[in-house]
Amino acid sequence: MTKFIVLTLFTNMFEEFVNTSIIKRAIEKEIVSIEVVDIRTFSEDKHRRVDFPPYGGGSGMVMSCEPLSKAIDDSIKKLEKDQKKIKIIYLSPRGVLLNYNLSKKLAESESNYILICGHYEGIDERIIEEYHIEEISIGDYVLTGGELASEVLMDSVIRLMPGVLSEGSLNEESHTNQLLEYPQYTKPSEFRGRKVPEVLLSRSS
Ligand code: ADE
Repeated sequence: MTKFIVLTLFTNMFEEFVNTSIIKRAIEKEIVSIEVVDIRTFSEDKHRRVDFPPYGGGSGMVMSCEPLSKAIDDSIKKLEKDQKKIKIIYLSPRGVLLNYNLSKKLAESESNYILICGHYEGIDERIIEEYHIEEISIGDYVLTGGELASEVLMDSVIRLMPGVLSEGSLNEESHTNQLLEYPQYTKPSEFRGRKVPEVLLSRSS
């Protein structure tokens, strides 16, 4: 089983994700587990603060080394028992761009994952150095946080793991050069005067 531990300030954003469709089934089949952890629970500050203004000035706030480091250490402790490689990924617009090949590599790497979702202006750079963190971006735009990005990453990786999708769906995907799917149609054979191509009609069951 591949384990994902997601570190976030917005745990509610994952409630539907883990309870829906293919991801839900992959969890039920014990192919993956997804644990969502609130970084704030590791804050020892009396106001449970997790962010401060950046040194040197500038707008916004930066997530500080603590409590994030404590959340990471706790996750490592949980995953160490499995004696699998642990990959720590920070979702960031600065990271390497996620594509099919990277998702496939992650799906096949037999690692467990800690995914860090930043907010505000990002996280303290020393965290990235200290834990040799990989930075991954899901596109050339800036989101308000890494939560959606981590869901995109998990979705694209999990669906490539053996046993998650039917053999047929994955084979078809690779036969069509991964991304270049052809147009699809289903019943009815005519919609507002638009007909399904004849060649497909003669082949349907
Ligand atoms: N966090 C904010 N923007 C992001 C992006 N484009 N990709 C990944 N994480 C992000």
